[in-house]
Amino acid sequence: MATVPFAPPAIGQEEIDAVVSTLASGWLSTGPRVHEFERAFAAYTGAPHAIALNSCTAALHLALLASGIGPGDEVVTTPLTFCATANVALHAGATPCFADIDPETWNLSPAAARAAVTGRTRAVLPVHYAGRPAETAAFRELAASHGLTLIEDAAHAVEAVSGGRKVGTTADYTCFSFYATKNLTTGEGGMLTTASDEGARFARIAGLHGMSRDAWARYGGAGSPHYDVVMPGFKYNMMDLQAAIGLRQLAGLERRLARREAIWRIYDEGLADLPLTRPAPVERGDVHARHLYTILVTPDTGWSRDALVAALAARGITASVHFRALHLHPFYQERFGFVRGQFPAAERVSDTVISLPLSGAMPGADAERVVDTLRQLVLGERA
Ligand SMILES: Cc1ncc(COP(=O)(O)O)c(C=O)c1O
Repeated sequence: MATVPFAPPAIGQEEIDAVVSTLASGWLSTGPRVHEFERAFAAYTGAPHAIALNSCTAALHLALLASGIGPGDEVVTTPLTFCATANVALHAGATPCFADIDPETWNLSPAAARAAVTGRTRAVLPVHYAGRPAETAAFRELAASHGLTLIEDAAHAVEAVSGGRKVGTTADYTCFSFYATKNLTTGEGGMLTTASDEGARFARIAGLHGMSRDAWARYGGAGSPHYDVVMPGFKYNMMDLQAAIGLRQLAGLERRLARREAIWRIYDEGLADLPLTRPAPVERGDVHARHLYTILVTPDTGWSRDALVAALAARGITASVHFRALHLHPFYQERFGFVRGQFPAAERVSDTVISLPLSGAMPGADAERVVDTLRQLVLGERA
């Protein structure tokens, strides 16, 4: 029987044609399609500036640097995230400080974040975990009252809306990922949105070697070929080849979200009576981006998380884990002395969470098969 893949990308003929015509255009790296993608993404989110980059990690790093964060500064974030969220604080010379998640939503708890603020804290960095919008109004209030920059990791949350505001406009800086498994993919890629003219200008220059003009301006038209190096920048630019895919993906975003919502309902209904913890419903008026359908394997199932993932794999279903909490990883334990027990809500998710297959290209029959297999395993066999 065929395998149910974890998150196959929803790539159609339109994306393939867009790449082929970009190859034929003769302009492969940052150029007209990147600028068009930036304009389209800014219009989609309502953000005044959108800067296309080669990853969300790059966007997070530039957001911290644009905020003036450096050695001696602290950045408060969640331990229940991908390592890039905290690694970038170290790349900026700052210290990531974890605060526990809300046990219901699995997002960074605003109260715990507030308690983690010290005299050295300069930024708070919530993650829209699994696509569920974080409590952005509470984080804006926390940032305003303590003079912090609010940077949101929206790697999972392109479509999300929080408190009536589109994610991308709810923070000082918002960072999106277009990695292969994401709701909008360019293979690899990312976007930084901001309302700050100065921050956007900084990110554009710091993201391309610290040069005062990009290649499109140097080679693309009339005028001087000269540029000035104004800082030692990074090589974080997006290619036109990626933007060509991104433009097609952006156009299909709502259609694919509807498919994700349909799969979500199949899981919600099919698993409702099992002793598993399912994702909590969202606040009224919020939009969940439905990036990851995550369940917690409670002791009542008789299964450990890892045994259940292995049993699913043996039956052709590829599940995943998002995430093992960062404070339990060797680097963070050795560098900062973190120990188990410090962030109990994050540890509960870290120890028991499974992400089920989900994608904008997933047939409903595959979701039914996941449900049937989980039902057999949880109600019938034991580990
Ligand atoms: C929560 C979170 N933040 C950041 C990233 C990094 O994204 P990228 O691979 O685009 O750098 C990821 C990637 O999966 C992620 O899940």
